[in-house]
Amino acid sequence: MSADDTESEVETSVEPDGQTEQADEVPPSPDDTIRTTRRNAATFLAGVAGAAAIGSFAVSALTGVENAAVTGGRELTYKNIYTKGVHLVDEEGNRIKADAIEEGSGEMLTVFPEQEGGGALVTGKTTTLLLRFSEGDFQEPTNTDGTVQGYVAYSGVCTHAGCSVSQRSGPNNRNLHCPCHQSEFNPLQGCKVTGGPAPRPLPQLPIGFTEDGSLIMATGPFEGPIGVTE
Ligand code: FES
Repeated sequence: MSADDTESEVETSVEPDGQTEQADEVPPSPDDTIRTTRRNAATFLAGVAGAAAIGSFAVSALTGVENAAVTGGRELTYKNIYTKGVHLVDEEGNRIKADAIEEGSGEMLTVFPEQEGGGALVTGKTTTLLLRFSEGDFQEPTNTDGTVQGYVAYSGVCTHAGCSVSQRSGPNNRNLHCPCHQSEFNPLQGCKVTGGPAPRPLPQLPIGFTEDGSLIMATGPFEGPIGVTE
């Protein structure tokens, strides 16, 4: 466990301007900066240039990285935790491969954005839940353009009081469950609230495969504020 892990317990809130902030006026950690995306952009471009062929399931959305150059030192918000081209990694910093979860299984991995120099950017705001169902399982209001081959990703920060959404519940253990006050979300329907006090869905992270189809990347930022809003 790293020093950043203490951050993972800090609740979050969103200011009136829509920017996510830490609760209790805890000053931002120096680690709470995006240090990743310039390198990710370069890596991605190199990957594109070196690709011998584009896989049949490559994501057309990953044809540009103009949004990936987030300046280092910027405070983390849901708009810049991920940008187009940022790799999803596990807590040890290993990039998530396209076959990491069996299609149709409904299983879940906890992932993070990759940071500059490698490794996971682990804070209370960056925890992300990656699940894989079958492509035809998704219903509205899921953004199916932000899914790939049954994979879908959501923020792991509960919208009620900022706890970690770490458990499963509901039919076939399909739903995401927050143990703090029993909120439940349906990941096949845009993570809409199906139980408990959470006031709104977990925001979706649009994802796709790299051009060679081997890895999973973000194709944009979270589609709404993470954690608590006022
Ligand atoms: S913090 Fe998740 S249900 Fe209260």
